[in-house]
Amino acid sequence: MTDRVQLESFDEDSYYQDPLGFFARLRESRPAALVPMPSYGRAWVITRYEHVRAVLADPRMARDVHRWPGGGRTRPSEATGVYAHMLHFDPPDHTRLRRLVQKAFTPRRAALRPQAEQIAAGLLDEMAAARGDVIDLLDAYARPLPIAVLCELLGIPPADRTWVAAAVADYDRRAEHDRVERELAAYFTRLIAARRAEPGDDLVSALVVARDSDGPDGAAGGLTGNELLSTVYLLVMAGFDTTVNLIASGTLALLTHPEEKSRLRLDPSLLPAAVEELLRFTSPVNHANDRFTTEDVPVGDVVIPAGEWVFPAVSSANRDPARFPDPDRLDLGRDTSGHVAFGYGVHYCLGAPLARMEAEVALGALLDRFPRVSLAVAPEELRWRPVSLMNGLESLPVRLA
Ligand code: HEM
Repeated sequence: MTDRVQLESFDEDSYYQDPLGFFARLRESRPAALVPMPSYGRAWVITRYEHVRAVLADPRMARDVHRWPGGGRTRPSEATGVYAHMLHFDPPDHTRLRRLVQKAFTPRRAALRPQAEQIAAGLLDEMAAARGDVIDLLDAYARPLPIAVLCELLGIPPADRTWVAAAVADYDRRAEHDRVERELAAYFTRLIAARRAEPGDDLVSALVVARDSDGPDGAAGGLTGNELLSTVYLLVMAGFDTTVNLIASGTLALLTHPEEKSRLRLDPSLLPAAVEELLRFTSPVNHANDRFTTEDVPVGDVVIPAGEWVFPAVSSANRDPARFPDPDRLDLGRDTSGHVAFGYGVHYCLGAPLARMEAEVALGALLDRFPRVSLAVAPEELRWRPVSLMNGLESLPVRLA
């Protein structure tokens, strides 16, 4: 049936530079469209709010490739040992893993705000030395802040942070995926061994306890060694770039909408609502991770056959005029409820409260310290990284005063 469906034309570079433009055209003309996605051959891209939510909530849209109709599928990360985490599974395995990780994650992330404030203040102090010059806000602020917070959470020693950040950044290049996965797997294996020998108050130590403690039946406590390693890997991959993008693109949105920036400056109590609108407006993640159909599934007017890849474009859903009136207008006071920047359904972002806190701290402290911060280039000159999943700037040149 799909052989008769027209394949959309897809230009990789123009997609990277303007994913919302590409999605907006599909949302109008073909809201469930077959697109030649890099690495996938072809995939169904879903662009309307109503359909994106329905796909993300549908158990026939699976993540675990071992359930592929007809069988025989694996993912490359199985070979590198970092496959076995919650985002690669469906219930009930997903439910078990998520519950275990959530238990260790929640109390630790809740305590991180003072540390995030301290880290932000330290970075702003360093930036003050460059007042008057053009600086790259991405390098100086948006990138180091989330990696430092994440390393505090996980117990990654300060000396290793630059290396971990560089390894994650290298993952942008498709050809580097295997190498990065192998190197991070080796690093996290050593970190887990070190925390087992000498536990701390960090999340990795807590997950080691979840791994080693006896379950109710006297067997291991519900997390295999491979699941532990994969979970640590997932937290770094899911928690770093996403938050970097929110801080950088959120700052850009404020700098290109000076009236909204002043509104926030005059009323700092608007900050939590502003972060929600910046999540909706900038969508740090272009589309949720791939799903595949375990059986034929209708989406709007089309039926997607069993055994097809599906990409729910959350950024497009957040700009759907059928859900958000005047969606391309940044309005820090608007009702953003129901935005899907953190996904929807069982895989809804586990780190959402942490990401919100980091963005509040980062944007609040930046505007407080440098109220006259401004963009140092024309917005059209900015380039976006060549990554399908994430929507992230290459650099963000600003003047602080
Ligand atoms: C602005 C920042 C962030 C954004 C926009 C974001 C977005 C998302 C989205 C869209 C999903 C769903 C993916 C899917 O269904 O395919 C997701 C899942 C996830 N995120 Fe985030 N995320 C952010 C920050 C974080 C942070 C800071 C962490 C943790 C340190 C984190 C950990 C996770 C995990 C573990 C999952 C998988 C949940 C599951 O499978 O049940 N994220 N995130």
